[in-house]
Amino acid sequence: MDIIHNFVVFEGADGSGTTTQLELLEGFFHGALDSEVPRLYRTAEPTTSPIGNLIRQSLRGEIHMGAKTLAYLFAADRNEHLFTPNGIIERCSRGELVVCDRYILSSLVYQGLTCGEELPATLNAAFPLPELLLYFDIDSDIAAKRMEKRPVKDIYEVLEFQIKVRERYQALLPRLASAGVRVERIDASASETEIEVTVLRLVVDLTRKMGYPDIGLQSCLGTYLSRWEKN
Ligand code: TYD
Repeated sequence: MDIIHNFVVFEGADGSGTTTQLELLEGFFHGALDSEVPRLYRTAEPTTSPIGNLIRQSLRGEIHMGAKTLAYLFAADRNEHLFTPNGIIERCSRGELVVCDRYILSSLVYQGLTCGEELPATLNAAFPLPELLLYFDIDSDIAAKRMEKRPVKDIYEVLEFQIKVRERYQALLPRLASAGVRVERIDASASETEIEVTVLRLVVDLTRKMGYPDIGLQSCLGTYLSRWEKN
């Protein structure tokens, strides 16, 4: 299976905080000098494309679709996301760091649970894998508490389902690791800042591999850490 270099994916059950952490990471990169860091492109699935919007309408329960139809739509959305001009593949190959909130594994987990393993496995078999995957692991009860305040719930945000989601993630992660993806588990019940620093360290490690002279980013991370340790 192909690996896309410079491509990072955040995965986790609903309420695991991937979106917040991606915003924090983006803020850190935007605060650094251009010469010190690659350009970070933040993205997410479902995307904001017409297919992604259709998926979100269905997840909010506004339109009804069969579970298999949704599996096809997620794969179609992903195909556009990867291969469109200025998509993931083009951006990564011109040296941008692309960080995506959810990708293939979400389909294998969520659609695997709702329409059986076979269809999502087949639909996603040819898509390339990320270089680094950060899995945000959280106890399902804690995640449910965090989501209590959300005004709009989607069809998957039910505790019993989320418990199964966590189990599926844990079962599938080793497969990605053996396919060559660097998989890192993040304790998503830690404080926001602790998680932020862990994520930064892992991503800085990757930018070093991308050939960025790590002095700038490292010193920036150093200043950041000392500020954090003082608080
Ligand atoms: P989420 O990242 O939670 O979006 P938001 O924070 O805007 O609600 O993603 C929405 C839901 O989509 C989430 O419950 C997981 C689901 N999902 C799938 O079922 N399959 C997929 O392939 C993807 C990418 C997401």
